[in-house]
Amino acid sequence: MPEPAPTLRLERIDKDYGDGPGRVQVLHGVDLTVPRGQLVAVMGPSGSGKSTLLNIVGLLDRPSAGKLWIGERETSTLSDAERTALRGESLGFVFQFHHLLPALTAAQNVAMPLAVRRGRVTQDALDRARAALRRLSIEELADRRPSEMSGGQRQRVAVARALVAEPSLVLADEPTGNLDTETSDEVFGEMRRLNRELSITFVVVTHDEALAERCDRVVVLVDGRVRSDRQVE
Ligand SMILES: Nc1ncnc2c1ncn2[C@@H]1O[C@H](COP(=O)(O)OP(=O)(O)O)[C@@H](O)[C@H]1O
Ligand SMILES: [Mg+2]
Repeated sequence: MPEPAPTLRLERIDKDYGDGPGRVQVLHGVDLTVPRGQLVAVMGPSGSGKSTLLNIVGLLDRPSAGKLWIGERETSTLSDAERTALRGESLGFVFQFHHLLPALTAAQNVAMPLAVRRGRVTQDALDRARAALRRLSIEELADRRPSEMSGGQRQRVAVARALVAEPSLVLADEPTGNLDTETSDEVFGEMRRLNRELSITFVVVTHDEALAERCDRVVVLVDGRVRSDRQVE
């Protein structure tokens, strides 16, 4: 039996912005292979290219050079429509700010990734949203709007939204950066539990050393290069 494809593979990824004399290279030959089920922390100083890297992995931005595989699919030759489809099928996103829509309830917000695909919120999507909220033990928030929730509750809803389409890979850019330490620990704990229970692969950008030590692996990016890459004991 061949080895299963890793969830994620980057080969010599470069990214530059601008042209001519104003051109700046932000990522330099980044190589990274993430096996299925791993929870990887990405650390590094502000401006080192962490968000740029996550946006490329998330198919929100294209690399200037190099190859990127999501599972079996090499993405450099995909059209925008194919990239959008692959993103919807395979990827979930959590950001520093929850980006919940204020006019919608938690269940409607969580259903959004499914609604975007089908063009409308179906009953099936709302049922799946409730199931995702239940997974995070917050089904009681289903009918509340973001203004009626605490910061930690909102970020849990954002995690439920990332999971609703059953992605193989969740990308989280400082997902607890806006929370107090205790809430941050709890929300991270939920992501860790989901990673273990569902074998979902996570790539999490964090500045928090204590959280990084609860991951499987820590990759440090400095000036757009992988400075170190170690397994956590
Ligand atoms: N759209 C853009 N145009 C030009 N420069 C950018 C753009 N996005 C990010 N950068 C630059 O790329 C570098 C890395 O940014 P970023 O990936 O946001 O770093 P980090 O997330 O590690 O703080 C920074 O110097 C930033 O100014
Ligand atoms: Mg960033």
